[in-house]
Amino acid sequence: MQINKVGVIGAGQMGNGIAHVCALAGFQVLLNDVSKDKIEAGLATINGNLSRQVKSGKITEAQRDGALKNIGAAPSYEDFGACDLVIESAVEDEAVKRKIFTAVCPHLSDTAVLGTNTSSISITRLAASTDRPEKFMGIHFMNPVPLMELVELIRGIATDEQTFNSVKEFSLHLKKTIAVAEDFPAFIVNRILMPMINEAVYTLYEGVGNVEAIDLSMKLGAHHPMGPLELADFIGLDTCLSIMQVLYEGLADSKYRPCPLLVKYVEAGWLGRKTNRGFYDYRGEKPVPTR
Ligand SMILES: NC(=O)c1ccc[n+]([C@@H]2O[C@H](COP(=O)([O-])OP(=O)(O)OC[C@H]3O[C@@H](n4cnc5c(N)ncnc54)[C@H](O)[C@@H]3O)[C@@H](O)[C@H]2O)c1
Repeated sequence: MQINKVGVIGAGQMGNGIAHVCALAGFQVLLNDVSKDKIEAGLATINGNLSRQVKSGKITEAQRDGALKNIGAAPSYEDFGACDLVIESAVEDEAVKRKIFTAVCPHLSDTAVLGTNTSSISITRLAASTDRPEKFMGIHFMNPVPLMELVELIRGIATDEQTFNSVKEFSLHLKKTIAVAEDFPAFIVNRILMPMINEAVYTLYEGVGNVEAIDLSMKLGAHHPMGPLELADFIGLDTCLSIMQVLYEGLADSKYRPCPLLVKYVEAGWLGRKTNRGFYDYRGEKPVPTR
C-alpha cells in the first residue's frame, strides 16, 4: 500500500517533529491538536526548525518552502478522511490515547493505517480500542525527530504483514533506520534508557550527587552526549514518569518503581524544558540546576 497523505495527532515536540520530517520527505501532512492555538504553535516550531536547518546548510531554501507547502492544519478528525496513515503522538496517557482512537476511527478510510508514537504503552491494548487492530502498530520516533536516525517499529498481536511492510517502507523513505521491537512495556530504547534516568533521579534523591555532579559524571565518565537529568528535562518529566509507571505496572517488578522525587517534580508542574523548569531552571540566560 502506497502512503501519500499523513495525519499527525498531537502537535507537541514529537508530533511537530514527525510532521516536519514527513513534509520534508514529500508527504502531504495534516497536523491536529486539541486547539487551533496548539496547532499554530506546532506549525510555528516547524517553521523555525526548518529555517535553522537552512542556516546550517542541511537543507535548501527551496526544500524548506516545499516542506511548508506540504503541511496543513487539521482542527477536526473529519480532515483525516483522505489520509493513508495517521500517527498519534499525543501525551503518554493510555486513557487519552484510547479516547483519540475511538473518536478518529469513524473518520478514516477503510484502508488507512493507524500508528502510535507511544514510548511505552502496549500496542496490542491500544489496538483493541480501534476498529482496525490488523492495520495498527507502534511507530516510535526518537527526539528530536529531524536529528535522530532511529525509528522503533512494534507490531501488536494482530498487526498484518502488509501494514508492517507499508510502515517500514514509509520509515525508510524518511531516511530513518528501523529497529523491530516486540510488544513489551517500553519496547527496547526506553526499557533500557528510562531505568537509567530513574536511577539518576534516585542518585539525586539520596544525595549521592547534585544535579551538576550526576550529569558531569555520566558525560565525562561514560561519554554520554547529555547527562541523564539534562536528558530527562529534554524528554519531559511527565513523559519519563508515565513510562516508568508503565514499566512498573507492566512488569510488576519493584526495580522499576518511579523515584518519589520524579513524582514530586511532575506534581509541581516542573516538567523540564517545555515548562522552563525541571532538574534545571531555563528561565535565565543559562540553565541553572534546581538541586
Ligand atoms: N519526548 C520524547 O522524548 C518522546 C520520544 C519518543 C516518543 N514520545 C512520545 O510521543 C508522544 C508525545 O510526546 P511529546 O514529547 O511530544 O509531548 P508534548 O507534551 O510535547 O506534546 C503532547 C501534545 O499532545 C497534545 N494532546 C493532548 N491531548 C490531545 C488530544 N486529545 N488530541 C490531540 N492532541 C492532544 C497536547 O496538547 C500537546 O501538544 C507521547 O506518547 C510520548 O511518549 C516522546
